Amino acid sequence: MAGHLQNALPQQSEKMITLKGVSKSFGNGGNAVHALHEVDLEVGRGEIFGVVGASGAGKSTLIRCVNLLEKPDKGSVEVDGQVMTTLGDAELRKARQRIGMIFQLFNLLSSRTAAQNVAFPLEIQKMEKPLREKRVEELLEMVGLTDKAGSYPAQLSGGQKQRVGIARALATNPSVLLCDEATSALDPANTRAILTLLKDLNQRLGLTILLITHEMEVVRQICDHVAILEEGRVVEQGAISDLIANPTSRLSQAFFPPILDSQPAEGSVWAAITFLGGSADEPVLTNLVRKFDVEVNILGGSIQTIGGQRVGQLQVELKGEQTQEAVEHLRELNLRVEVR
Ligand SMILES: Nc1ncnc2c1ncn2[C@@H]1O[C@H](COP(=O)(O)OP(=O)(O)O)[C@@H](O)[C@H]1O
Ligand SMILES: [Mg+2]
Repeated sequence: MAGHLQNALPQQSEKMITLKGVSKSFGNGGNAVHALHEVDLEVGRGEIFGVVGASGAGKSTLIRCVNLLEKPDKGSVEVDGQVMTTLGDAELRKARQRIGMIFQLFNLLSSRTAAQNVAFPLEIQKMEKPLREKRVEELLEMVGLTDKAGSYPAQLSGGQKQRVGIARALATNPSVLLCDEATSALDPANTRAILTLLKDLNQRLGLTILLITHEMEVVRQICDHVAILEEGRVVEQGAISDLIANPTSRLSQAFFPPILDSQPAEGSVWAAITFLGGSADEPVLTNLVRKFDVEVNILGGSIQTIGGQRVGQLQVELKGEQTQEAVEHLRELNLRVEVR
């Protein structure tokens, strides 16, 4: 009987968004701009997934391909088990109700109050007025804007406008929220507040968030997964904890830039030692010096909280007969060590 019930439940995949081989160009011939090349992306249910890249890297094109605001030239897009790239117009409109989106410049209707902006997608759905008003109230409360229900966008701060944008995006109860540079127009305090709200909604509602940004700081503050986009190609992607543990990853190098950019002197090596979940442990180095014929000079280091996890990296110079043995010893302690 239990088995029977289980079979009746819809199968929920672990994956919420899957892009396979997505390419997109604008224009044609010699003037064509290849915005995306063969992009593969996998976003798991409940993740906060960041796509980072410089201006022009193709981030907006990528996020617009997820809800088919931009139609890929090639490849497939699947969201919450539904292949978006094969849907007809009516089905696509329906599927988009499960995908909310917020924008850098908020895109609010200036002639409507906060409450009326939030009500807009519900009016389109033809939700009846009493239900709609109740839902708008709930949504405004969820984003901490109950007292601004009657204010017009011009009377709101940037942070408040983005809260209206978020409430509007969540009106139809989407399972995915797409954020296109949602904090890029905000000052640092409002940026932090909006990111905290997004994290809170992610946890309270199990909302999957795909956000694009040109700021590593945004990734550091809330993402658990990341893809790095360069000239339309994904050059790295994965769980932040995995990428950070690997000192050769681009992500790790962005957070812990090499302290020295020249080469180590003859007979010595430089090593970056990454510590996860704690601080750079002094006894480790003391023991190293005791056990091996090696001299350790600390070049620098830092400890940061990345995706809610404490990560430290120590950059050292190693000199002596047993440098190689010392590095192997560190690796046996499960520390990630990159030598150059
Ligand atoms: N509608 C469009 N028509 C022509 N070129 C476009 C269009 N949208 C984007 N592009 C070009 O595609 C490239 C990627 O743009 P975009 O996705 O907006 O990058 P990002 O969001 O990372 O700054 C850029 O060279 C941009 O000029
Ligand atoms: Mg953009």
